[in-house]
Amino acid sequence: MITPETIQRVRDAARIEEVVGDFVRLRRRGANLIGLCPFHNEKSPSFSVSPAKGIFKCFGCGKAGDSLGFLMEVDQLTYPEAVRKLAERYSIDIEERQQSPEEQEQAQVKETLFQINEAVANWFQAQLWETEEGQIAALSYFRERGFTDETIRAFRLGYAPKSWNNLGDYAKEKGYKEEYLQTLGLISKSERKTDVFRERVMFPILGTSGRVLGFGGRYLIKKENSPKYINSPESEIYLKREVLYGLFQGKQRIIKEDECYLVEGYTDVISLFQAGVENVVSSSGTSLTSEQIRLIRRFTKKVTLLYDGDAAGINASFRGIDMLLEEGMEVRVVLFPDGDDPDSFARKTDTEALKTFLNHQAQNFLAFKANILMAEAANDPLKKAEVLRQMADSLALIRDNFSRITLIQDCAQRMEVPEEMLVSEINRRIRKRISERNQPEPEQPEAGEAIEDEGTPALNLPEPAQSHKEIQREAAQLGLIRLAVLYGDRILHFSEGEEPFSISALTYIIDELAKDEIQLPSPLAQSFLETLDILDQEERWSEIQAVLIGHEKPEVQHKVLDFLQSPYHLSQYWEERHNIITDREDTLLKKTLAHSLITVKMNVLIDRADAHRERLKVLQEEQRAAGPEKLEEFQHQFFEILVEIAKIQKLVQRFATELSRVIIR
Ligand code: UTP
Ligand code: MN
Repeated sequence: MITPETIQRVRDAARIEEVVGDFVRLRRRGANLIGLCPFHNEKSPSFSVSPAKGIFKCFGCGKAGDSLGFLMEVDQLTYPEAVRKLAERYSIDIEERQQSPEEQEQAQVKETLFQINEAVANWFQAQLWETEEGQIAALSYFRERGFTDETIRAFRLGYAPKSWNNLGDYAKEKGYKEEYLQTLGLISKSERKTDVFRERVMFPILGTSGRVLGFGGRYLIKKENSPKYINSPESEIYLKREVLYGLFQGKQRIIKEDECYLVEGYTDVISLFQAGVENVVSSSGTSLTSEQIRLIRRFTKKVTLLYDGDAAGINASFRGIDMLLEEGMEVRVVLFPDGDDPDSFARKTDTEALKTFLNHQAQNFLAFKANILMAEAANDPLKKAEVLRQMADSLALIRDNFSRITLIQDCAQRMEVPEEMLVSEINRRIRKRISERNQPEPEQPEAGEAIEDEGTPALNLPEPAQSHKEIQREAAQLGLIRLAVLYGDRILHFSEGEEPFSISALTYIIDELAKDEIQLPSPLAQSFLETLDILDQEERWSEIQAVLIGHEKPEVQHKVLDFLQSPYHLSQYWEERHNIITDREDTLLKKTLAHSLITVKMNVLIDRADAHRERLKVLQEEQRAAGPEKLEEFQHQFFEILVEIAKIQKLVQRFATELSRVIIR
């Protein structure tokens, strides 16, 4: 244990502007310094540091504290970890309070085990990068899987060579006790005492603060009687229940995105991470434990499970999901197209398409579960009743009244049962739970009402990542405009329908937007569109560029020049981004246009749905204020909006499917 004196010394030495400065670019403003808040997305700085007071405060998200608090938050460290980190930065020796001899001994053993694992991880890395065997066998394997060198280093991947006792010899040379290597599962406990990992690519498993807890080793060549992966055993430093692979690399992004993707294994984590989806972890080795769930909860309450379309895997995980709900997590699920897992899918799409896919395929888990169970129950009324009970079990776990109302409606619809049936099943469970806790039972509340259970949580909305989102939105819209400007005069031939027809690309774009009543929110894009619309009506497709270059608005002129000066080769775009060999430019242009149009349309619709959701929140507040007598009146309005949202979601879903069809070939 660290002595209070040491902690005081660390506090005295730490200069808040330096500690924060390691993470945030700070500028002076008067007596303080300001910068962009590392805890939420923002465009203009509202994060302020006061060197005089030794504290930071963000006026955007409200986070505040001293140097230690900052480190704990930004690196998700425990208090002692933060003290150690600061002590190291300021070269302060750490004094530990007297521990019992056993405690000391134990702490020392653990420390030694960590050190050995660290050295071994470095050794595996050296085998990969610096030996011929490693380069030929393992490095090429990683590269073939599509991992970049940067990724390989970020995850500290390595290689365990083929010959016997390589690691054993290295350890002997370094003077590590054999007993420790056996504890760590690096050397077998049998008579022969040989290396456990041989001819395998190595995935070190890092703890939340980056220390090496253990290893997973995958064979390079399939062999009889040899498992695909060998994973380190549990040890004093590797408690599998408490570890999530990828958390060390992904934790910052999990906080920033306020969302955590959960996948099956090492390779899924790494592929998604490399594809730009860094907020991803895996519970490799165990099925999800409550310890792991709580670990995620330190960073976010939103978990999205990524599944390959295998129904067995989904069913098996239902239990794990009830655990997530019980811990108050919001659970969503994304199903991948047949034959794809997160790893393979991430490899063949680009970041933008992957993120679009993840965002828009994600559905609430319970709604999803209702669908699966109902499909299984088919027309069997007995089974259906069972499904109703199962769904009620899960729905009753949701503590947030508002989410529960929404979900009840959705699930009832999917299960084709009256809402009231589900409500009464759920209420029975909630009442039971309440009475089991020996609390005075409130008078017969309906599930649609605010049941005072643990207190209704206050609305605690993170500030929306407006700036970043807006930039992306505008880029997508201008991407479409760019296509219109550069290729608007091309003629597209459509022969899929009954009657083949040909139209200009510009007509196609304008018709597509009009069809779904889409207006482009970006003012710049809108300016373009107005002129393009006229040109299209007057059928002056060949004059698009000439007319726009003389546009009255200088920002339009400048943008046109941008478009013209960095010519955009369709075939290059598709071949590089999607790894496909394209044949005719006609097909190519159609695909590119479809991709761009769907992206823009989806964005607009999603924003519309978000606006509806904002209205729902306001209504919810009003309903709370108005009290239960007015419930019916409000419920009516709730449902009206929910229906609107559902409509939009359906459309978005359709677009997302179309999008994956356009891209994935
Ligand atoms: P996979 O079989 O997909 O492994 O298992 P992989 O390395 O991605 O192999 P290919 O290239 O698709 O065939 C997915 C995850 O399950 C865990 C690992 O975390 C792996 O990344 N796993 C799998 C094990 O822990 N042990 C095993 O024996 C197999
Ligand atoms: Mn795999």
